[in-house]
Amino acid sequence: MAEQNDDQVTDWNDQSGERWVVHQARLDAMLAVFGQVAIEAAAPAKGERVLDVGCGAGASSLALAARVGSAGQVLGVDISEPLIGRARALAPKDSPALFRVADASSAELPDGRFDILFSRFGVMFFDDPTGAFAHMRRALQPGGRVAFVCWRGATENDWMRLPMSAIKGIVPPTAPADPEAPGPFSFGDWGRVARILTGAGFTDIAIAPFDAAVPFGEGGTRDAAIDDAVHMALEAGPLSRVLADQPDDIRTRISAAVRAAFAALPGERSVMISGAAWIVTAHNPGS
Ligand SMILES: C[S@@+](CC[C@H](N)C(=O)[O-])C[C@H]1O[C@@H](n2cnc3c(N)ncnc32)[C@H](O)[C@@H]1O
Repeated sequence: MAEQNDDQVTDWNDQSGERWVVHQARLDAMLAVFGQVAIEAAAPAKGERVLDVGCGAGASSLALAARVGSAGQVLGVDISEPLIGRARALAPKDSPALFRVADASSAELPDGRFDILFSRFGVMFFDDPTGAFAHMRRALQPGGRVAFVCWRGATENDWMRLPMSAIKGIVPPTAPADPEAPGPFSFGDWGRVARILTGAGFTDIAIAPFDAAVPFGEGGTRDAAIDDAVHMALEAGPLSRVLADQPDDIRTRISAAVRAAFAALPGERSVMISGAAWIVTAHNPGS
């Protein structure tokens, strides 16, 4: 019988994890603003202990570590060995951030240890999200808080919507994905997020939209920036899976179609694409 989160463990230790490591610096630059807003929502204080779920290469863990200081602690957990390897390599020697390869939905975590359960785009991949949040809640002290950022729906996120629309008619349409299947957009419906957190025992749930335009492509000229954005979309972004195994002529047509879509976006030596996220906060009752 398949274990919980098996597909995600495989993917994040294989293609998705490797792609993320290759493009880590660029992805961190794009996601920084979203992580920063979630950190402000978490409001970590000196000396607090934070669990960073699906920490990836650890950018948010290190930002949290700077806030909690040497009297505090940040534990970043992630199922991806390559990403945890990168996080450990990037962490300064004296950082209060520690990293562990573990599935957050089942990892052994000390009861009531943490003040804050945090995540930057790392909580949308659980087979059983309610069970996962109930498990992680036990690691929070009574009165502890949750703050995370997750994507809204795919159609609200231009970094997904534009490339996917551009390739219509070039590759055969695929069956629409189950919106609740583990994946980047599985928390797009705020009602579902509220149900998951309520079912896991959290209270005071607040879910607020946050939008930001991020430089998806950059370069010395506008043309170079558009080429860079196309490269990111094809290699690191939503089209990387679609392109796998496509013949050269189809790849060329896809590349041209995405380029035309990106050329219409704002930016001088960049291509600015908007992302639409939820900033979610909640409390562990009991204090
Ligand atoms: C979209 S990436 C975000 C990574 C990082 N938080 C960032 O913002 O750069 C999602 C991360 O969640 C991790 N992940 C997925 N399922 C997980 C699970 N069950 N337990 C821990 N980490 C998980 C993946 O390995 C991946 O690193």
